[in-house]
Amino acid sequence: MNQSEQSAVSRRGFLRAVGVSGGAGAMLATMGALGLAPTAASAAPPFQAPTHSDFNLTGRRRARVVVLGGGVAGLAVAYELGKAGYDCTVLEARSRAGGRNLTIRGGDVETDLDGHTQRARFSDGGYLNAGPARIAQWMVTMDYCRELGVPVEVFTNANADAWIYNESAGMTAPVRYRTAKADVYGYVSELLAKATDQGALDDRLSADDKQRLLSFLQSYGAIGGRTSGWAYTGTSRRGFASYPGAGNDGGSLLGAPPPLADVFASNVGRYFSFELGYDQAMLMFQPVGGMDQIPRALARAIGKHRITLGAEVTGVTDRGGQVEVTYRHGGRERMVRADYCVATLPPHLMARVPHNLGADVTAALGSFPATASGKIGLEYRSRWWELDQRIYGGITETDLDVSHIWYPSYGFHGRRGVIVGYYNTGANARAYSALTPAQRQERAVMQGVKIHGEKYRSELVTAYSHAWDRTRYLEGAWTSPPHGSAGYDLLLRPAGRVYFAGDWLSHEVAWQHGSFVSARAVVTALHQRVMAS
Ligand code: FAD
Ligand code: ALA
Repeated sequence: MNQSEQSAVSRRGFLRAVGVSGGAGAMLATMGALGLAPTAASAAPPFQAPTHSDFNLTGRRRARVVVLGGGVAGLAVAYELGKAGYDCTVLEARSRAGGRNLTIRGGDVETDLDGHTQRARFSDGGYLNAGPARIAQWMVTMDYCRELGVPVEVFTNANADAWIYNESAGMTAPVRYRTAKADVYGYVSELLAKATDQGALDDRLSADDKQRLLSFLQSYGAIGGRTSGWAYTGTSRRGFASYPGAGNDGGSLLGAPPPLADVFASNVGRYFSFELGYDQAMLMFQPVGGMDQIPRALARAIGKHRITLGAEVTGVTDRGGQVEVTYRHGGRERMVRADYCVATLPPHLMARVPHNLGADVTAALGSFPATASGKIGLEYRSRWWELDQRIYGGITETDLDVSHIWYPSYGFHGRRGVIVGYYNTGANARAYSALTPAQRQERAVMQGVKIHGEKYRSELVTAYSHAWDRTRYLEGAWTSPPHGSAGYDLLLRPAGRVYFAGDWLSHEVAWQHGSFVSARAVVTALHQRVMAS
């Protein structure tokens, strides 16, 4: 018996013993703990919101808290503290709450740091989620949607009928995901089956293992058997030129696959691992009507009177017994005093706000680099991608500078629709953000035509582009936190009476989940302090 067989047997024995002594419930729970049975998935660290009774029982005074920034982290702090009656005020510099959770609809106007003003002209029901757009099932964001009554629908993150197009690899036409996968899986399976059958893996595999692997590869890659040399010669998984029909119409297959070398040279396989990511795997979800339904619902729950929009924080002073925050509002300098402050501004911007929290705090805040990212929404007068190309949601991947093209996961079979014509990061994002909105549109359409044909230009009605590195009060999309550094750890602790929160203080950066769990961690710490005072 080898080591893994021994441990399987001892695990079985242990579980039998648990089952005998504790019954089926205990056995299932134990299996869950060992990762062998479904458990209640723990989406987030355990969290208990503060309640009114925490104060009623102790007679303590509810603290006054000023929250800097009205993105989802700041709103969640005010929402959770509000459950216990804390007196919270949120100061938000932009004209609406939500921060990076920004949905652009017809009529919305934004002016960027370069002075470009865009008025979105999307028709009713059409929108661009300029920031967050998808939610994984396990994320605490889903719990907030449930709790706040925000309806959700499926967001199609992977679609076998979407395209892959790698221009730099010499592809002259896009290929469907299903075709690319069939060919890559087929050839990889053929190679591995040949090597296995020729004994190349004999020091790793027993005779039984080899048989099992070969039979898996035959099904995984749709390859022939030993007599055919395990050859991959194509499969209906590649798709059809015309799909099977009535009577004797078996349809016509796309044809034989390209030679192995051409498939690998096209580099289509580089996109396949994306959908395996624990954070990107289907099913994904989106709020019905736009991602900003989340901050809107949070703002309603907090009470609009507690959120001051157009309030640019200009200074934070910890006076020992309380915190003073200065801000500019309506052209005037104002000040608010509170027992505690929770700062949720992006770290690179918070680093610029004058404060007396110490040089080490400023240095730590300055150690978070800001990443660029941009998106463009292209509204079309017809949903040609559904009608002509049979693509209902999902993402086309390309090595063109547009990086990703998203088809809407809502409004199927409607009259119009908004495609995300680029969603890029880093150098590609900066290349687009350096252009005027009109130039961005022209360049994105020129690239998209290479994949979709002329309708990508001729059916276009209107466009709106968003460059996060050029967005006032954000100046970036997300960051790469210096996890494990002294500076990162410093900001996890309060600086006197000032706490910090945001996705940048989590291990789920660029996800609202990270903002929410960070907000909850601060709420817990602050409430414990108040209860202990
Ligand atoms: P922010 O939203 O950055 O909030 C900070 C707030 O501070 C802002 O409202 C800002 O206006 C305000 N502020 C700044 N300076 C001042 C000042 N001086 N005074 C007062 N207020 C100020 N998450 C997902 O869950 N799913 C996704 O698919 C996803 N995709 C994304 C795609 C893109 C392109 C981007 C940019 C983000 C994406 N995210 C996604 C991440 C998500 O948007 C963030 O994690 C979350 O919205 C951040 O919330 P926050 O409150 O922590 O920070
Ligand atoms: N979390 C972001 C997204 O999924 C980066 O697009």
